[in-house]
Amino acid sequence: MRWLKRLGVIVLALIVLLIVAIPAVIGIRPIIGPRARPLSDRTFERTPERIERGRYLANAVSPCIGCHSEVDWTGGFLLKAGLEGSGRSWAEEGIPWLSAPNLTPDPETGAGTWTDDMIARAVREGIAHDGRALFPLMPYHQFRYMADEDLAAIIVYLRSIPAVRKPLPPSEIPFPVNRFINAVPEPLTEPVPLPDKTDRVAYGDYLVRIGVCRDCHTPMDEQGQAIPGMEFAGGFPMISPNGQVASGNITQDASGIPYYTEDLFLEMMRTGMVRSRKLNNYMPWQMYGKQTDEDLKAMFAYLKTIPGVAHRVDNTQPPTACPRCGLTHGGGNTNKPVED
Ligand code: HEC
Ligand code: HEC
Repeated sequence: MRWLKRLGVIVLALIVLLIVAIPAVIGIRPIIGPRARPLSDRTFERTPERIERGRYLANAVSPCIGCHSEVDWTGGFLLKAGLEGSGRSWAEEGIPWLSAPNLTPDPETGAGTWTDDMIARAVREGIAHDGRALFPLMPYHQFRYMADEDLAAIIVYLRSIPAVRKPLPPSEIPFPVNRFINAVPEPLTEPVPLPDKTDRVAYGDYLVRIGVCRDCHTPMDEQGQAIPGMEFAGGFPMISPNGQVASGNITQDASGIPYYTEDLFLEMMRTGMVRSRKLNNYMPWQMYGKQTDEDLKAMFAYLKTIPGVAHRVDNTQPPTACPRCGLTHGGGNTNKPVED
């Protein structure tokens, strides 16, 4: 799937962030190691309900399996059959030193010998089973909001999938990036409750959070920092051998998606089409489209509450410099600088 390739570009942006911006604010962590809590011996009870919930979350809501599987790039977003969850190298995306590890229960090449809490701490707190800080392409900064019960469900599901023996080169994050990322992980000490499903906006907010929508739809400056006041306003360019596309403005401004109805949103997530307009495959609708109507509707209810940000992004126009976000994207030159 092409959007995954583009994550390579995010990673490069992140590297710049890590080298340039973080040292100013991080202090001592590069030297003394990441903040990490000690591991506990908790195990999550294996129940059929958790397996089902975990399967749904890991495949349709939070892109765990999408990132931790080999992709057949020729067919849009097709995971190679029989290898689901067995990890992959990011060499194809230009990051030869990064591997999303094998999460299947294989004891030698996968997660078979890792404890439940090792996985739990990795997903929400960014610490690998061996204690190092994870490279933040693994979106643990969003997964920190994942409810305890959903985390347990995903882990119980991962324990239930077939073990695949597949050795991968371990990540070898280059110096000094491997030191700077020590500043990113943060232990979680408070319980995280599941939001009330009947509060559709709150539940939609949750799904958007653990669905990692923000990471693509909020433009970042050259240091990899989200541009203030532009949450969900799009325009973040994504470059691949297949050309350039920018994320859309999904706020309620006239330049965003105020005209979306719930029906149109569901149709887009299921087909990748906005009426006759075909969306670029960087938008991972194939995965999100496997969600239930109820969950997609909750997500839409939340999107409706996002304050408008005036910012035109039009991928049918050539990329031009945008005075609003400072980036270069389709229709960029039709925007005005922010007035304060
Ligand atoms: C955008 C891609 C992406 C997504 C989405 C993603 N991961 Fe990862 N994950 C990675 C990469 C890359 C690494 C390796 C980072 C490193 O080596 O520093 C990783 C590392 C991990 C690790 C650490 C393993 C260890 O060494 O201890 C675990 C566990 C993990 N991911 C589980 C998950 C789960 C569960 C989900 C879904 C809730 C998920 N990941 C979603 C890319 C992703
Ligand atoms: C990997 C990056 C990525 C992620 C993750 C992502 N998007 Fe997108 N999205 C894009 C890109 C790129 C486009 C623009 C596609 C185009 O214009 O052809 C887009 C377009 C859209 C559009 C269409 C806007 C329009 O012009 O009609 C909507 C709505 C949308 N995304 C919502 C979401 C939601 C909700 C999520 C999370 C559940 C999400 N996106 C996650 C990259 C992403």
